[in-house]
Amino acid sequence: MDAMRDDTFKKITGLMYQTIGLSFADSKKPLVSSRLSTRVQRLGMSGYEDYLALIASDDNGGEFQMAVDLLTTNETYFFREPAHFDILSDELCRLKGHPLSVWSAASSFGDEAYSVAMVMADLHTQGRIGAEWSVLGTDISDRVLCSASEAIFPEDRLREVSAERLRRYCLRGEAESAGLVQISPKLTSRVRFGQLNLCQPIESLGPFDVIFLRNVLIYFDPPTKREVVDRVLTQLRPGGLLFLGTAEGRVPCETPLQLVAPGAFRKVAS
Ligand SMILES: C[S@@+](CC[C@H](N)C(=O)[O-])C[C@H]1O[C@@H](n2cnc3c(N)ncnc32)[C@H](O)[C@@H]1O
Repeated sequence: MDAMRDDTFKKITGLMYQTIGLSFADSKKPLVSSRLSTRVQRLGMSGYEDYLALIASDDNGGEFQMAVDLLTTNETYFFREPAHFDILSDELCRLKGHPLSVWSAASSFGDEAYSVAMVMADLHTQGRIGAEWSVLGTDISDRVLCSASEAIFPEDRLREVSAERLRRYCLRGEAESAGLVQISPKLTSRVRFGQLNLCQPIESLGPFDVIFLRNVLIYFDPPTKREVVDRVLTQLRPGGLLFLGTAEGRVPCETPLQLVAPGAFRKVAS
C-alpha cells in the first residue's frame, strides 16, 4: 500500500476535527497512517484515499466510529488516580442530604463510572449518603459503551480495587470466563451509559454534583479544550466538583473554578 499523502492526512484529520474535535499536528502523520493501515488492508482497499471516501460518506456503516476508535486510546482502569476517589468520597459525605449524581464524561469502557459506583455504594451501606444516588457514563464510541453496559472486565483492570470491594461487587469468572470479572447488579442497576459527543451542544443532563472529565482533553486543541470544559461545566451544579486528569493541568475556561487538589476543581457558586 502507498504511504499516506499529505492532502489525505489533512482531509482525514480535518474530518476528525470538525466532527469530534480530535486535533492532530502534522508530526502525527506517521501515527495516523500506522493506526489506520491494518484496517485499510483488512477492508481490501487499495489506499487511504478509498478509506477517506468511506468514512466521509453518510452511509459509512459505522466505519467512521471504527476510525475514531483506532485514532483515540480508550486506556482506562479502575481507581485510576486514586486520590480523586478519596476527594469524591469526602465531597459526597458532605452533601449526603440530597439525591447524588455523578457524571463520567469520557467513560471509555466504564472503569471510572463503576469505580465511582463502588465508592457511592460503600457510602450508602455505611449510612453516610442516602439511597438516591446514580452514575452516568458517556463516550463518543459505541464500541466502548456496549462493553461498559455488559460490565465484564479483564481482572487486570481491577488491580487497584481493594479485596473487600472485589468480594462485595465482583464475580470472578470460571472455566472459559477465567480471568474475567462481572460487576454485580448492585452497581450496574445504578450506572447507565449513553453516547455523547463533547464537541457538540449538550442537551440538559444535569445538574451533577461531581463530574469526571479525565484524560480526554489531551485530544483537543486549546480552543476546543476551553469550549468542552465550559460546555461540561454547564451541567455541574454551582459548588460542585470537576476532576480532570492530573497530567492535563489547569484548563483555561470562562467558568470560575477554584483549585482543590491536583486535577480537582470546584465550580465557584455565583
Ligand atoms: C483515555 S479514555 C479516558 C477514560 C477515563 N476517563 C479515564 O480517565 O480513565 C478517553 C476517552 O475519550 C473518548 N472521546 C474522545 N473524543 C471524544 C469526544 N469528542 N466526545 C466524547 N468522548 C470522546 C474516547 O472514545 C475514549 O474512550
